[in-house]
Amino acid sequence: MVEKVRLGRTDLIVHPIGLGANKISAADPDTHTEYGGDVILAGIENGMNFIDTAFIYGRGESETIIGKTLKENQLRKEIVIATKGAHQEVNGEIQLNNHPDFLTQQVEDSLSRLQTDYIDLYYIHFPDEDTPKAEAVGALARLKEQGKIRAIGVSNFSLEQLKEANVDGHVDVVQDEYNLLNQSAEENFFPYFKEKEISFIPYFPFASGLLAGKYDQDTHLSDRQKQRPQFQEPTYSDILNRMDKLKTLEKKYDTGIQNIVLAYYLSQEPVNAVIPGARNRQQMLENLHAATIQLDSEDRAFIESVFPKDYRLNK
Ligand SMILES: NC(=O)c1ccc[n+]([C@@H]2O[C@H](COP(=O)([O-])OP(=O)(O)OC[C@H]3O[C@@H](n4cnc5c(N)ncnc54)[C@H](OP(=O)(O)O)[C@@H]3O)[C@@H](O)[C@H]2O)c1
Repeated sequence: MVEKVRLGRTDLIVHPIGLGANKISAADPDTHTEYGGDVILAGIENGMNFIDTAFIYGRGESETIIGKTLKENQLRKEIVIATKGAHQEVNGEIQLNNHPDFLTQQVEDSLSRLQTDYIDLYYIHFPDEDTPKAEAVGALARLKEQGKIRAIGVSNFSLEQLKEANVDGHVDVVQDEYNLLNQSAEENFFPYFKEKEISFIPYFPFASGLLAGKYDQDTHLSDRQKQRPQFQEPTYSDILNRMDKLKTLEKKYDTGIQNIVLAYYLSQEPVNAVIPGARNRQQMLENLHAATIQLDSEDRAFIESVFPKDYRLNK
């Protein structure tokens, strides 16, 4: 039985492996896409209780599928839902907006799509240019007082923006990119998180699947993938070589490298939970297994020697 964890100083108690729900969508037989509701239910049946979504994931589609699935199966109370807002559609274009009125309306819209009367964790997805950060978070603090949200998060804020946002101590959780290819959050943010008891939820843990060990030199890369820095040479070959070294740990832990990578993140205080994006039931179930792995200090040091803390992708 996997022990659930508390997110920082909030009341939210979650399985350490959540579901990153940006790949949750309608079934599509042409692309073999599984219905997102089935992926969610497979996770819940196996202990998962933490779903991370956002308005921008399918412009409401991910939230809608989550809401429908939880409602139909009467599971709302069992699940901790995190969602995010800040993206505004203006004449078909997406802009960022943190104005208190806009965020308040976004929360109402998310509540409606999620078919619930409370959101467990609501993040400002990205900072905008104009709104003072403490005013934006102040709007969420009022929604928390009203019981519409239970905890407050920010995502993609710089440390300076975070400090401004947290001037009244309202920020409970921060979500930012953190993976073996970019561990800069440790230096930039971790001391502040510890000081303020802020929980950290890393996103992009597999760097699009590359750190899940599913690629080799023969893998066909789409044109879209080739645009991403981690798939460009000589970086791509370098990462594959490093992944081959990490895979020597698979035998010892009797599991795939994707679980060892997730277990490594979970071993870093103040990471309480991770939210790998699962596209299908198989990935969802594989990822849950990571919560059962305790890496010993020697193997953590080995991982750090393969992907040093100062490893950076050339973006
Ligand atoms: N706050 C933000 O701005 C922000 C930004 C990005 C993401 N996020 C959040 O973080 C979550 C995770 O990020 P992400 O989905 O972009 O990236 P990710 O978790 O690094 O990668 C997800 C991809 O990894 C592969 N994968 C997952 N489980 C696997 C397994 N067991 N075995 C092999 N491959 C596996 C899949 O690749 P294939 O698709 O190729 O099968 C999947 O699409 C998102 O769902 C979202 O909730 C937040």
